[in-house]
Amino acid sequence: MLKGNGGRMSDVMLGIETSCDETAAAIVKDGKILLSNIVASQVDWHKKYGGVVPEIASRKHLEFINPVIEQALSEAGVEFEDLAGVAVTYGPGLVGGLLVGIAAAKSIAYAHSLPLVGVNHIEGHIYANLISHPKIKPPVICLTVSGGHTDLLYFSEFGDYEILGRSRDDAAGEAFDKIAKVLEIGYPGGPAVEKLARQGDENAIDFPRPMIHANNYDFSFSGLKTAVLNYINQQRQKNNKLNKADIAASFQKAAIDVLVKKIIKAVKEKKVSNVLLAGGVSANQRFRELLTAKLDDLGVDTYYPDLKLCTDNAAMIASAGYFKWKKTKEQAPYSLNAVPNLKLS
Ligand code: KG4
Ligand code: ZN
Repeated sequence: MLKGNGGRMSDVMLGIETSCDETAAAIVKDGKILLSNIVASQVDWHKKYGGVVPEIASRKHLEFINPVIEQALSEAGVEFEDLAGVAVTYGPGLVGGLLVGIAAAKSIAYAHSLPLVGVNHIEGHIYANLISHPKIKPPVICLTVSGGHTDLLYFSEFGDYEILGRSRDDAAGEAFDKIAKVLEIGYPGGPAVEKLARQGDENAIDFPRPMIHANNYDFSFSGLKTAVLNYINQQRQKNNKLNKADIAASFQKAAIDVLVKKIIKAVKEKKVSNVLLAGGVSANQRFRELLTAKLDDLGVDTYYPDLKLCTDNAAMIASAGYFKWKKTKEQAPYSLNAVPNLKLS
């Protein structure tokens, strides 16, 4: 059991997440049991711009943060006094949004004498797996892949990560978003590409698979994105009718092939028997399917969070914060600031 600043005994953590365009709060017990998970999506306000508008995001976070926290507490049947602490994302992400979450977390921590725990958003994504699969035991290879990062990791203990490689330019999710925007198939891009790809032929167009054979664990999605954009422009210039489903499917397959290849390489080198996927792109069913099939052949198990925990949420932040606090007893100071380009270390 954890002892908060006020001397109370509790295993219940409040998590707060405002790094992008979801205002989220959640209550998690023992770092693994979900008591409530509230996510107020801002998609409706951003979709007409085809991407997240930081200024709008900050304003919406301000509007939503208090009701979202209140709902998380009431659905969990928990009062502030029952909490072990408050965990909050302090980076990476959009500075305006991060500051709203941090300010809310600080106020609650101060008013109720609770420990304040700063959480790296990318690390939060990893912990989402622990909520969905409480019995997971490292060592593992873990790919965290979303709109802002593509990091391939090895760890034998949660919290202690060896970064094997990461994207040298765009994140994989960013490429999904850009292709969706150019194809005008909807927002957010990842789910839109995946849906359309189901009707297409993934072998129709031979898009490049950058760095697939490079003898390292780094990725590059900017080249793939540019190749797809060039293809679309060429077809438009020739007045050819675009087969959007084939483009979506072929792009998706190219992106997945690179991710799968590097994961398999890491699995063989590190000789692990478990692989974790984390982050928004891990919601992609085709990715899950292709990776699981390859890893099954090697006798390796594949884990990914429940769909609602793949994309941004605060349950993963509460979980990561709980274990960080339990292990290190490290409280963030009241001067905790947003770190927009925070890396996983
Ligand atoms: O983790 P997340 O919600 O936010 C970040 O930390 O970035 O991930 C969002 C990213 C977006 O780029 C989105 O297009 C992508 O994850 N994404 C997907 C899918 N669902 C979300 N990409 C491919 N297929 C999906 N089903
Ligand atoms: Zn995220």
